[in-house]
Parts: sequence; structure tokens; C-alpha cells
Amino acid sequence: MKHFVIVGVIVIIVTVLVSMGLDAVGVMPPQASAQAVPIDNLFNMHLKVISFLFALIVTFLVYSVIVFRRKKGETGDGDHFEGHTGLEITWTIFPLITVLYFSYLGAQALAETRRVDPQAIEINVTGVQWSWRFDYPDQKVISTELVLPINRQALLKLTSTDVIHSFWVPEFRVKQDALPGADMVKDLRITPTQLGEFKVRCAELCGRDHAYMENTVRVVSEEEYKQWLQEQSAKANDPDPTKRGKFWAEVYGCASCHSANGTARTGPTWKGVFGSTRTLEDHTTVTADEAYLRRSILTPNAQVVYEFPANRMPQNFEKLVSSKQIDDLIAYIKTLK
Ligand code: CUA
Repeated sequence: MKHFVIVGVIVIIVTVLVSMGLDAVGVMPPQASAQAVPIDNLFNMHLKVISFLFALIVTFLVYSVIVFRRKKGETGDGDHFEGHTGLEITWTIFPLITVLYFSYLGAQALAETRRVDPQAIEINVTGVQWSWRFDYPDQKVISTELVLPINRQALLKLTSTDVIHSFWVPEFRVKQDALPGADMVKDLRITPTQLGEFKVRCAELCGRDHAYMENTVRVVSEEEYKQWLQEQSAKANDPDPTKRGKFWAEVYGCASCHSANGTARTGPTWKGVFGSTRTLEDHTTVTADEAYLRRSILTPNAQVVYEFPANRMPQNFEKLVSSKQIDDLIAYIKTLK
């Protein structure tokens, strides 16, 4: 009995110390959304349980090794034990209750992160190899940067044009896969509670540049948000078609594969492409006029340029960009001499 009391006291002390140590490490990034609160609470409770289990196992182990070690001159066998019903019932019942209790807390936290605010701002989020695009349908704004007003719930509608991506901002804690397919749109609700700049990361291995699939998230005041919406819509409605074209090239991700300075990326550079003679896969040649550029955007596999792989260019631009936007893109490409 004396041993149990001693071990019990040590277990309590070690639990407190380990728990304080884990708290001090600060494993979590800043907490920047309302949805992060229930998740962090749950995580912190897990840390407490982990600290207790660690203390329980390690204390019994070390205590036994030290106190019950073989003394000098002792040559006999140790006492033989054949089961202990009370102990077995205890170590079955307690973990069972703990696990059930945590599953209840987990369900509660999940419900909390999904709480619907009917006033939420709807944003369509599209994952593309290897970038994110954000459409604000009600505000008619499109952007490669996610800008959110503070303390207002945003309802993100996630989708992908190619493979599975996963939308994750560690400071917001919540995470959701973005799946290809029109009927596979997934919801994610975020209510930012801290001003500042964060990063969307992709949390699903999605190809060569997965690690660089990062876009900026900015949480701003309501006034700044309104101002930003105006600026974005001004960019999309610029009177100069070449400026609009440059903007589309950024938001639709053209620029991530087609450089404007002559470097070859996944696709051919746009520099000097207009009016040039292109050699195709079958070694025939074609002049890059407006019709050729339009065809290359809408049906990219029709005339693949020699030494560039087919099927790398998304084939959904017909649905994605309007004819007028393609005019703008061509006007922009023409300026890249
Ligand atoms: Cu997209 Cu990883």
C-alpha cells in the first residue's frame, strides 16, 4: 500500500510537470478563427490525458526498476501472479469511458466548426496544379489572394480542376479536401478573428510543385475589404485590354506555366510567341496568329508545340473564360515581344 501511495503522488507531480512542459512548447500557431477555439480546447484536453498516461507508465516503470530490483545475495525467483480481476476491470472500464467521453467532445467540436451563419460571404475556391483561385460570385470579383473581413463567416465552396488538393490555413485550424468534379463541391466555414496575413497551404500531395502551392490570405477590416473589392473589380474592368489580359493570366493561372520573359516552364513562354512560326509535334509548322492562340487556349491538344508534353494544359478554359477574356489575353500576349 505504501508503494501505491508514493507512486500515486509521483504520478500526479509528473503529470502536472509534463503537462506544463507541453503547454510551454507551444506546438500550435496563433489561433485566428472562431472555428479554432473548439479544436484547440479538444487538443489541449488530449495533451492532459497524454501527460497523465505518460506519467502513469513511466513512473510505475522507473519506480519498480529502482525499488524492486534484485538485492545483493537474492537468488530466488520473484512472486508469481495469476491475473487480477479487479485490476483488469479497472483498466478496461476507465479507458472505455475516457474514449467515449472524447468522442462526444469531438462530435461537439465538429458541430461547432460547422455552425452556419446565414450572413456568410460565399467564396468559390478552386485548386489548380499548383495554385488557388478565389471567386466572389456575389461581388463579381476574382483573385489569387484570399481576402476576408474580420469577424464575418466565410463559406468556402471548394473544388479542383485537376487532382485532389486540400485547403489548409494552419492558423484557422480547419482543413478540407478540394476534389475535381462539379458534383463534388465541399463546404468549409471560417470566421477569422485576428487581423493579419496568413498562408493557404495545400495539404494533399498533388504533384511536382505541391510544396509551393501557397497563396496569401489577408484578414482585414470591413472598410479595407470593401476597398479591396473595388480595386479588384477595377482591375477586371480596366479600359486597357492588355492590362485586363495580364490580370486574367494571373488569376486563371496561365502565368504559372507560361512565362512572359522567355523562360520555358511547363508550357512555352509567351514572349515573342505572337507572329512566330511554331513547330508542332508532327514537325509541321504553323504561324502563331490570333486564331492559333485562341485554338491553343480552347483546345490545347489540337496543336501541341514540339517538345512540350500534351495534356498538361487544362482543357476547361472554354467553360472558365469568356470569349472577351480570351480577346484580352491575346491582346496581352501580343505586347510580349
Ligand atoms: Cu495541391 Cu498539394
